[in-house]
Amino acid sequence: MSNQRTATLTIDGQTTEFPIMGGTVGPEVVDIRSMYGKTGMFTYDTGYLSTASCKSSITYIDGDKGELWYRGYPIEQLAEHCDFLDVCYLLKNSELPTAAEKTEYVSQIKRHTLVHEQLARFYAGFRRDAHPMAIMAGVVGALSAFYHDGMDISDQAHRDISINRLIAKMPTITAMAYKYSVGQPFMYPRNDLSYAGNFMYMMFGTPCEEYKPNPVLEKALDRILTLHADHEQNASTSTVRLAGSSGANPYAVIAAGIACLWGPAHGGANEACLQMLEEIGDVSRVPEYIKRAKDKNDSFKLMGFGHRVYKNFDPRAKLMRQTCYEVLTELGLENDRLFKLAMELERIALEDEYFIEKKLYPNVDFYSGIVQKALGIPTSMFTCIFALARTIGWITQWNEMITDSEYKIGRPRQLYVGPNRRDVKPVEQR
Ligand code: CMC
Repeated sequence: MSNQRTATLTIDGQTTEFPIMGGTVGPEVVDIRSMYGKTGMFTYDTGYLSTASCKSSITYIDGDKGELWYRGYPIEQLAEHCDFLDVCYLLKNSELPTAAEKTEYVSQIKRHTLVHEQLARFYAGFRRDAHPMAIMAGVVGALSAFYHDGMDISDQAHRDISINRLIAKMPTITAMAYKYSVGQPFMYPRNDLSYAGNFMYMMFGTPCEEYKPNPVLEKALDRILTLHADHEQNASTSTVRLAGSSGANPYAVIAAGIACLWGPAHGGANEACLQMLEEIGDVSRVPEYIKRAKDKNDSFKLMGFGHRVYKNFDPRAKLMRQTCYEVLTELGLENDRLFKLAMELERIALEDEYFIEKKLYPNVDFYSGIVQKALGIPTSMFTCIFALARTIGWITQWNEMITDSEYKIGRPRQLYVGPNRRDVKPVEQR
C-alpha cells in the first residue's frame, strides 16, 4: 500500500483522490493538476488565495509568525550581517559567498554597470515630466533590443550573463530615469563605490562637484535593497513567471514585472503612502483619516498598512523602522512635520481596535517611504528603487522556473459567465 496521503473530492457522489504534497516547511498542497482530466471541473481561486502556483526553493514566508527567509536565512540575520550583493549572490546561487567568491562576484557585476550609449538616448524620447516608473518599464524592456539575437535562454551561461547585466545596470538605469526627470546630466557609474554608494552617487552627484555618500545613508539604502530583494510569489513575481513562461526575452519579462509593481496595492504603496501623508498634512488631522480608513463607504485606505500574507507583523517593517529612526537621527529630522505625522499615524493605528482586529500593521513600505524621503529621494522614485531591489528576486525566480523539469507555459482557466452561444443577426435586425 502506498503511503501517499491524499485528499478526497466528492462531486455528485463520485469520489476522486488527489495527492498531498509537502514542502520543507509551510502548508502542504493538494496536487490538483489531474483534476480537470478526472472530473471535468476547474478550481476557482481569484486572487490566488489558496493556490500555490509553483514549487520554489528561494524564499519562504510565514505570515502568521512574521518570518521571511531567503534560501533559509532569516531576513533579520541577512540585514545585520550581509550587504545587498551578498543577498543577490545568495538568491541566485543558493549559498552565501565565501570571501573569494564575493570578490569575484563584485568584480563581475562592476564589469557590466555601464549601459550602451544608444540606450542613454532612449530617455530623450520620454516627456521630461514622465513618471520614472514609465521610463523604467520602457528602458528595461528596451534592453531586450540590445541583447536578443545572441540569447539562448535554455543555456545557463546565457542566463547567468543576463542576470549579472540586470543587477549591474539597474542602478544606472534607475538613476538615469531620475536625472532625466530633473534635467541634470547622467552620471557614469563609479566602480570604486559600493553598490548602494554608487547608486547614490549617480542619483545625487553632478559633474560640478565632488559627491561622497554619507555612510549611514548608504547603509540605509543597502538595507532597503536587501529587504525588498525577494518576496516569493507576489503579484509582480508571478507576472515575471507568467510572462517568462512563454520563453520571452528576460529583459522584456523584467519590464512586465516593473509594470505590475507600479500599482498602488503593490510596490506603488510607498509612493502612495507619502502622498497620503502630504494630504493629511498635520498631526491634528490624523483622527479624521483614521475614521475614513474605517468607513466601509469610503474607498480610502491607510497606505502602507496591511498585507496579504503578514497578519501579525511584517518582519521587514520592523527592520525598516529601526533604519528609519537611525536615518532621521543622522539627519536631525526627528521633528520634521511629515515624519512626526507618520509616527503619530503609526501610534494611533497600532492602538485602534479596527486595525488590531483586522491585523493591519504598518508594512515595509510605510517606513521605506519615510526613509527614502529623508534620503532626499523624490516620491515618484520610490517604486523605481523597489524595482531595482526586486530585480534579483524576479530574475532568480525566472531562472528557477526555466530550470524546473515541470516547467510549462502558464495558462490559467476561467469560469465563463458571458452570453451563451448566439448567432450574429444581419445589421438591420440588431
Ligand atoms: N486601511 C484600511 N483598511 C484596510 C487596509 C488599509 N490599509 N487594508 C485592508 N483593510 C481592510 C479591508 O477594507 C478589509 O476590510 P473588510 O474585511 O471589512 O472588507 C480587510 O481589511 C481585509 O483587507 P483585504 O483588502 O481583503 O486584504 P488583502 O489581503 O486583499 O489586501 C493589501 C492586502 C496590502 C492589498 C491591503 O491591505 C492594502 O490595500 N493596503 C494598503 C496598500 C499597501 O500598503 N500595500 C503594500 C503592501 S506591502 C508591499 C508589497 O509586498 O507589495
